[in-house]
Amino acid sequence: MLLLPLCLTPQDHLGASTPVCTLATKWVPSVPLHEARTATLTRATPSYLPKDVSSLQLEVIEETAGCLHLTLKDLSSPRYEVELPVGVPQSKGDSQEALYTTEFQSDPFGFIVRRKSNGRTIMNTTVAPLLFSDQYLQLSTALASSLVSGLGEHYTSLLLDLNWTSLTLWNGDVAPHADANLYGSHPFYIVQEEDGLAHGVFLLNSNAIEVMLQPTPALTWVALGGILDLYVFLGPDPQSVIRQYLQVIGYPMMPPYWSLGFHLCRWGYTTTNTTRQVAQRMHNAKFPMDVQWNDLDYAKQRRVFTFDPWRFGDLPEMVEEFHKKGMKYILIQDPGISSTSPPGTYPPFDDGLKRDVFIKNATGHILIGKVWPGPTAFPDFTNPETRRWWEDCIRDFHSKVPVDGLWIDMNEPSSFVQGSVDGCPDSDLENPPYTPSVVGGQLNSKTLCMSAQQKVSTHYNLHNLYGLTEAYATHSALMKIRGKRPFVLSRSSYPSIGRFSGVWTGDVRSDWEQLRYSIPAVLQFSLFGVPLVGADICGFEGNTTEELCVRWMQLGAFYPFMRNHNDKPNAPQEPYIFGKKAQAAMRSALNLRYSLLPFLYTLFHHAHTSADTVARPLFIEFPADSNSQTIDRQFLWGSSLLISPVLEQGAVELAAYLPPGTWYSLHNGQPFYSKGQYLLLPAPLDTINVHVREGHIIPQQEPALTTTASRRNPFLPDGGTVSWRLGLGRLVLG
Ligand code: NOJ
Repeated sequence: MLLLPLCLTPQDHLGASTPVCTLATKWVPSVPLHEARTATLTRATPSYLPKDVSSLQLEVIEETAGCLHLTLKDLSSPRYEVELPVGVPQSKGDSQEALYTTEFQSDPFGFIVRRKSNGRTIMNTTVAPLLFSDQYLQLSTALASSLVSGLGEHYTSLLLDLNWTSLTLWNGDVAPHADANLYGSHPFYIVQEEDGLAHGVFLLNSNAIEVMLQPTPALTWVALGGILDLYVFLGPDPQSVIRQYLQVIGYPMMPPYWSLGFHLCRWGYTTTNTTRQVAQRMHNAKFPMDVQWNDLDYAKQRRVFTFDPWRFGDLPEMVEEFHKKGMKYILIQDPGISSTSPPGTYPPFDDGLKRDVFIKNATGHILIGKVWPGPTAFPDFTNPETRRWWEDCIRDFHSKVPVDGLWIDMNEPSSFVQGSVDGCPDSDLENPPYTPSVVGGQLNSKTLCMSAQQKVSTHYNLHNLYGLTEAYATHSALMKIRGKRPFVLSRSSYPSIGRFSGVWTGDVRSDWEQLRYSIPAVLQFSLFGVPLVGADICGFEGNTTEELCVRWMQLGAFYPFMRNHNDKPNAPQEPYIFGKKAQAAMRSALNLRYSLLPFLYTLFHHAHTSADTVARPLFIEFPADSNSQTIDRQFLWGSSLLISPVLEQGAVELAAYLPPGTWYSLHNGQPFYSKGQYLLLPAPLDTINVHVREGHIIPQQEPALTTTASRRNPFLPDGGTVSWRLGLGRLVLG
């Protein structure tokens, strides 16, 4: 087995003068490792990395039969350790026999985790040296197969490319494109083993991380700080792996029913009247829609917690009107708080100052960056007082504008200047000895200084947690203020965010490639415990076309979170803008979704209570089927509904894969007996192919223009009479 001696990397980047492979740093354990659950590893040879750590504490915790937990920490001085927000249900010991065995090797130090049932090696870290210095921690492992998914957020297919690629986990305000660190960081991967079993690994570390993928197959973690805190999940099937992962990071929240309806947004609804007209035109054209949104247009000088008195002076009235119509209303909420309003005119900043809620720079002054309103301070959500202040700001705003949820954007956090308006000090935090490939070149590109100080630690350690901490604060605030299950949508993410928020995939372009890649993006968030996820339908950047928008609305009707959102300069893309045929196709996609909402809601309940996935990759349901292992142009809702969208311009038919078994067209009930094969299916512009799996019943409810109305409608008891009437196809009892 060939494994890259990854000591090459620090050699290259750290300028170490020693020949490459003397980096095979040696650790001596204090006790024979096969006997112990904890041991001290003492460095016997230097690694030549700056600030080597000389002794490590190894702890091996058998959390449950399916979950092994290993930590490696510096024995001499405490380092930053991620604490996920309170309330994560801890995995606890159970009486079942462990699914794994562990072996330890001292020279070179490493551990091997095997699957007990078949002896398969799940991890083997003896293949390359363990490195542990202050800002460079490295652990490599051989992989059991090349079918690896996860390690988001990146613009990739569901299966990662192991041919010497590397993925950086560093939250950035980066529009989705290949080879870039995007908005979220999820240091978790799942490996499909050849026989349909699966395992997963989670590195609980919030520092910048680089994962190097090698064709051996093998993988190397590099973390720029913190500790090595590794969880190994033995499944044995893929869904159990996800459940075991979610037992550590928390099960997802239960979204409100209405939030599964259709959402309409754009940057550029410049007045309340424009916003009203949009909703009215949707209604007149009979498009189901639950939630009207406003982007930053509503805010006075783009300052959050205000609304523009001229253009949005009657915002409270508008929201009440929506409510009376059975609709909901959401607006955007950026974390940056304008710092240049005259004292006494902008309470969020004045109160924030008094309550000391903002992130400080290295010299203890408030760090000022730049976002939409100009110079801004950034709340430190790791500080409990900040969370109370945030709640007060939201309460005050909500008392005027009774929003139904909040859209938390720009929370990587994003800033238009590097580090701060005053730059950043020259230090190892700003310029670590090794920086993985990040968009902008430096960790502080388009965000805050790494040396910035938060209550819990430096921004260097906490950067990837910013969105999570904001989502937690926002969710808790809304819960207290509204007393109902909150709706929060976040752009930046980290493990656990699904407990508080949904996620959208950011500033996708209006093109066919982005339409296609939105499926693996959504499926990956399913693996990360964020079932409420979707991409901006019809695309956010650039002008859409009628055909693209129809196909995107059809696919979007099966995103767990369905929102059409558009950027300011672009041609409009609300459904009513398009020609008759396109409108009919979009209307039918929306009606189909609305008819299925009770089913979708039930899937969310299963996600919330049992850590099931909602939008589900085929491999989770058909793990031993080699075709299903690789598919990411189709997906399932739960275990029984197969969605096969058109993803190519001009296509009016599509080769859809049907896993082994009988499948019924949801459109007309036609059965297909599949041996696990591709079928050429007609897919004219008005059609999205959806199939029901044998042995399953999909309830449908007569749709309506809002969920407030549809929830009062009858379910369809008779094989779809109403579906036929609506041109939806009919209920299939498989
Ligand atoms: C960036 C977000 O990704 C986008 O959705 C939003 O429209 C703009 N910020 C303006 O608020």
